[in-house]
Amino acid sequence: MSLLAWLHDTAFSEMMRDSTWAEPIVETIHVLTLTVFLGFVLLLDLRLLDLAMPRRRISVLFEQLNPGLFGGFAVMVVTGVLLFSADPIAFYSTLFFKLKMIMLLLAGLNVLVFNFTLGRRLADWDLDPRTPWGAKAAGIVSLVLWVGIVAAGRGIAYALPPP
Ligand code: HEM
Repeated sequence: MSLLAWLHDTAFSEMMRDSTWAEPIVETIHVLTLTVFLGFVLLLDLRLLDLAMPRRRISVLFEQLNPGLFGGFAVMVVTGVLLFSADPIAFYSTLFFKLKMIMLLLAGLNVLVFNFTLGRRLADWDLDPRTPWGAKAAGIVSLVLWVGIVAAGRGIAYALPPP
């Protein structure tokens, strides 16, 4: 809490709170980037579930979408931290913010587990007519977590303590 109190008292945090345009501009970028980022996530997860682009090789899809995915994620994190810095104690006090951060970590863990298991042997199953169950499970976990992250992100504004 002392770290959050320190952040709250910085000139930058005050500027984010008092400026007319800073927060709306950052939040707009947070939401617009979300549409691109989640669009790519959805495409990949539906492919892993054999529900979209069945003839498109997964390795090719990763190659094509990864730059947008990582770039989009980086923008989400930067704009998210900027939003958070406007009122860190209030945002941190909401259950939605804590749930969102936990789900973000789990979504990252899901990608790591996939990359270190099936992802490493992608060439073995990349051309198979159907993806292995492990890939489907990774796709389902990803979809559920990202829907949860968006819902929690949306819920933050409703759970903030009165100013
Ligand atoms: C890729 C990851 C992320 C996704 C998909 C995401 C998604 C969202 C969504 C959908 C909203 C609601 C926007 C609205 O209602 O207008 C939101 C708000 C918010 N996000 Fe994120 N977010 C992400 C990362 C982060 C990170 C890393 C942080 C901070 C460390 C963060 C902090 C916030 C805050 C503080 C709000 C509330 C803003 C407000 O209501 O004033 N987000 N996020």
